[in-house]
Amino acid sequence: MKRYRHRTVLGEEELSEALDGLAERLIPMLAGPEVTAIPVLGGAMIFAADLVRRLPAGLVMDFIRIQTYGGSTSPEKAAKPDWTPNPENVKGKHCLLMDDILDTGRTLTEARRYLLEEMGAAKVTIAVLIDKPVRRAVSIEADAFAVQYLEDLFLVGYGLDYRGHYRNLPHLLALETGDDGLPVPRTAESSF
Ligand code: IMP
Ligand code: MG
Repeated sequence: MKRYRHRTVLGEEELSEALDGLAERLIPMLAGPEVTAIPVLGGAMIFAADLVRRLPAGLVMDFIRIQTYGGSTSPEKAAKPDWTPNPENVKGKHCLLMDDILDTGRTLTEARRYLLEEMGAAKVTIAVLIDKPVRRAVSIEADAFAVQYLEDLFLVGYGLDYRGHYRNLPHLLALETGDDGLPVPRTAESSF
């Protein structure tokens, strides 16, 4: 990452350990038949791929896509699904809803509401890679998270993007943001 001032917050090994811990806490919550694992596309893609491989065999996977972010680092539109799972994977099923980060909470509130109210899920359990409670705008908590940050960090990598980029970084970085909330470009002199 050369373009923006940043620091690494979790390396590959730390991410792997955090996911081991999350899977351990999650497994007892998923006891019983008919679990459908549903990542929120696209941010949860990498996290979910690594998490489901730590969960017992037999679950079904399906996908929901909800978009809230435009070009800024703050939510600027309402959360709405534009890709929804196959109804037979949700109706009457225990859904494990996964996202990269629980920030304002709007995305997961809408995803959970949609699965329960519009698609008839029996139960929704929420697992996120990162819990960032400081910007919560609606009342929602994850059933389990891998890491929690109490500072208002803008994170990229391991699935999280800035304007669509950096999802494929294998570690998690925090971008330094300026007064406008936007990442600060890196200059030749910066050491950050
Ligand atoms: P929420 O609806 O505000 O809880 O935000 C959830 C969505 O916003 C996530 O699925 C992310 O795509 C995006 N998001 C929130 N915080 C960050 C961040 O720090 N970096 C990148 N994306 C973020
Ligand atoms: Mg996302």
